Amino acid sequence: MCGIIGYIGYKEAYPFLVNGLKKLEYRGYDSSGIAVFCENKYSICKTKGSVSELEKKIFLSNTNMKGTVGIGHTRWATHGIPDDINAHPHVSNSNELIMIHNGIIENYHAIKIILLENGFTFKSETDTEVLVNLIEYIKKENKFSLEKAVRISLNEIIGAYSIAIIDKYNPETIIVAKLGSPIALGINEKEFFISSDPIPFINYTKNVLYLKDGEMAIIKKNKKLDLRKIIDNHKLNPIIEKLKINLKEIEKGKYKYFMLKEIYEQPKSILNTLRGRLLIQNKKKEIIISIDGIDSNKNVFINAKCITIIACGSSWHASLIGEYLLEKFTRIPVEVEYASEFRYRNPIIDKKDIIIVISQSGETADTLSALKLAKEKGAFVFGICNVVGSSIARNVNAGVYTHAGPEIGVASTKSFTAQITVLILLALKIGKYKSVIDKTLYKNLCRELICIPKKIYNTLKIDKHIKKISHIYYKVNNFLYLGRGINFPVALEGSLKLKEISYIHAEGYPAAEMKHGPIALVDEKTPIVIIAIKDRYYEKIIANIQEIKARKGKIIAIINEEDIQIRMLVDHVIKIPKISEELSPLITIIPLQLLAYQIADICGKNVDKPRNLAKSVTVE
Ligand code: M6R
Repeated sequence: MCGIIGYIGYKEAYPFLVNGLKKLEYRGYDSSGIAVFCENKYSICKTKGSVSELEKKIFLSNTNMKGTVGIGHTRWATHGIPDDINAHPHVSNSNELIMIHNGIIENYHAIKIILLENGFTFKSETDTEVLVNLIEYIKKENKFSLEKAVRISLNEIIGAYSIAIIDKYNPETIIVAKLGSPIALGINEKEFFISSDPIPFINYTKNVLYLKDGEMAIIKKNKKLDLRKIIDNHKLNPIIEKLKINLKEIEKGKYKYFMLKEIYEQPKSILNTLRGRLLIQNKKKEIIISIDGIDSNKNVFINAKCITIIACGSSWHASLIGEYLLEKFTRIPVEVEYASEFRYRNPIIDKKDIIIVISQSGETADTLSALKLAKEKGAFVFGICNVVGSSIARNVNAGVYTHAGPEIGVASTKSFTAQITVLILLALKIGKYKSVIDKTLYKNLCRELICIPKKIYNTLKIDKHIKKISHIYYKVNNFLYLGRGINFPVALEGSLKLKEISYIHAEGYPAAEMKHGPIALVDEKTPIVIIAIKDRYYEKIIANIQEIKARKGKIIAIINEEDIQIRMLVDHVIKIPKISEELSPLITIIPLQLLAYQIADICGKNVDKPRNLAKSVTVE
């Protein structure tokens, strides 16, 4: 996690650094700091809290932030509490080297002991302060250049990093390096922008270089960038790409929060996920699903003995939906694993197994490590990612982008429905390859998929009604979410949304499982959100509703528009359009996203930046 930023060029660095950090706050926002360099001096300001707090502190303390070179950081604490001292940048003992870091140095403790034995002292509890001092130690002991000292030090450490470091006596050079955590360089003729992702610099340049793992760049004012391999100093040829991000996609526009904007964007984002992939062939009126990553690996999918889907958080919930779909349409056994669990239990992987990794950010450390392990064991790894060019996307054997557009709110919304859309396409496509899916079902579901954006658009109209319900329940301490079959993972996702942005405790359960324990929680104060659409579980769900009502629980039921039976039994209904069971999660999740949003907003929470969380979890 953490966001890093840097600038070297001919303009004042501070405005870019401070505005860039605001755009990176989705990566962490518990403390922040900036250092700006001018000749052989630098000014540094750090604070606990957001980048706005930092801006205020700089203004009130009258810190001189003049200079055309600088670095900045927004933190998600790993080593040490969020406070001014643990905030980055960190400065070496001699005050000469100033560094920012995203990632974790796993062997920092052993290095710290050596440095302490050699007279170094530490102000903070961070692993970063250890690394900057290791670089200083190696530099001074051996009279190495900064470049060489950085390279040697990085070869000594275990862990993940993206760093930027400056020597105050040579502030015309910034050295950046990457292993595990992302780093993008924006390149203009006479200026360089450094950032954890390209969004902060898209207003300035469309030329981007994504550093790869094990690479370092020596960036000098008015000079060409020098790209090297960290391991052996081998010179590399920088491959500069053109950015294709639309600015409107990263602005809040008329919405109070990005999360609300992203919920409302779902008709469009799903259309983008489907674009060019669901094709109607006019002559035969046949519907074709076309996905390069699958088409070019047809035999791998046809011959797969087993599929394991690996992900975290909301992407894990989408994976559970994928399990239902893939098993149903392809008849291939599917397992779903938490990435963090998968990699530590020596999983049994056959060469004929397919591993699917799902990640919005494409940077989640646990998922990335699981992917690498699966590849080492010889599996074919297929990725479903949203962020183009992300580490996971670059490391898989083949994959598909969800094309949901940038998701800035920490709570996943449009990326979740885009992942489900891709999983539906994938399951239908493999089922067709293997001729195990009923032809009429295939055709009907493809046709219905085309109508999903319109159905979501219509579903969003219930927002006002949901707001009224939210006003009734925003003060409760516990919620239960129930669903069955393919809508059980939707219940899990609904409860995660509420928990993460409103801090109200919520549990998701398969509705029938309630009587095995969770029913003990039901009383007149407990709201139970239940997905009760007309599918094959309908009658069973009605029985569950009766059981809750017998214990005076308050029920908010997600029902189909034409349903009249459940309406009579429950406290509140939220109506959604009729939809096939297999595609229903794309619609049933919408009211749950809105409910979580409205409750959190009424509670006055910062919806886009919930406490303790960050958008991409790049630490294990
Ligand atoms: O970027 P990823 O999809 O790999 O992220 C996985 C989780 O960290 C993410 O889904 C998280 O649970 C969200 N905050 C949920 O809203």
